[in-house]
Amino acid sequence: MKYSKIIASGSALPGLAVSNAALSERLAAQGVETSDQWIVERTGIRQRFLASDSDTSSSLGARAARAALEMAGVPADSVDLIVVATSTPDHIFPSTACYVQRDLGIHGGAAFDVQAVCAGFVYGLATADALIRTGAARRALVIGAEVFSRILDWTDRGTCVLFGDGAGALLLEASDAPGIHACRLHADSRHEPALRTAGGVRNGQVYGHPFLTMDGQAVFKIAVTVLDQVGREVCEASGVPLDSVDWLIPHQANVRILQAVTKRLGLAPEKAIVTVDQHANTSAASVPLAFDHALRSGMLKPGHRVLMEGVGGGFTWGAALATL
Ligand code: ACO
Repeated sequence: MKYSKIIASGSALPGLAVSNAALSERLAAQGVETSDQWIVERTGIRQRFLASDSDTSSSLGARAARAALEMAGVPADSVDLIVVATSTPDHIFPSTACYVQRDLGIHGGAAFDVQAVCAGFVYGLATADALIRTGAARRALVIGAEVFSRILDWTDRGTCVLFGDGAGALLLEASDAPGIHACRLHADSRHEPALRTAGGVRNGQVYGHPFLTMDGQAVFKIAVTVLDQVGREVCEASGVPLDSVDWLIPHQANVRILQAVTKRLGLAPEKAIVTVDQHANTSAASVPLAFDHALRSGMLKPGHRVLMEGVGGGFTWGAALATL
């Protein structure tokens, strides 16, 4: 079999939905000033889901994976590859993918994480697609799972209002027909200072600033430019003209970025799937969460062509074009 095909999706959100108004109140108590109006006008975000102490990337990822397996009606042990995209792994090791494998009761096949921040899901999808195409795997779970709330500086109003937690999963299997037509991945570390967590743990102590910092305007410009470029590139590689793309699922960072990319690609605004208003930016989870929302609400249908795009710290970016 020459291709991989997406056969199902699933998602998981933590139980706590926090509106902009509730977040503003909570931050005001710490002396951090923001408002629903500012957040909606600049980002389109209306609420986000925040993890409880017991939620982890693997627990959310396993829930999303189970939902995808249920949708497809296939047993967990038929999965021979699990790829988890995350920047907020449960532990340094083992990988979050191994914990997901454990939670699903699977004992075999391959399981590993990929780290490309908000482009991680597209990187994971491209990796699973390549392994299926070579015959190394036949059925794969590709999961984006994040608890980004744990790496935010809650005193920095320029970043802490933008993110949420959650997980999404796509189930892929080997197929004679596409499926995924093509994927394209890129990285350029010259943009690294615009988005990073420049700290960590060393010799038992925290060093640097291990929370997310961002130059919002620089990120905005890079994101719009590269998502336009890679969207065109993957369509050309697939031999599919942009005007026959049915749905665009870009990384859900900010509604203004989504609108600008949709316009640059020459796509009608209603072709873009938008969930950033409900989920905020869930990093590697944002594309599969949006995909699952669109599939379950009946927007995505068999035969539709879907362009998925991610961009994140590194900088990293990429796109995948699939027929459902
Ligand atoms: N509430 C109220 N005021 C705020 C807040 C807030 N949450 N955050 C910043 N401000 C204030 C600033 O202090 C500043 O005030 P000043 O004029 O008195 O100095 C004012 O708002 C304007 O600040 P800017 O940073 O210039 O605001 P900007 O219009 O650039 O919007 C934003 C900021 C929304 C982050 C924008 O730059 C953006 O959308 N960037 C894209 C970044 C993004 O989406 N990143 C997601 C993560 S990266 C990724 O996923 C790839």
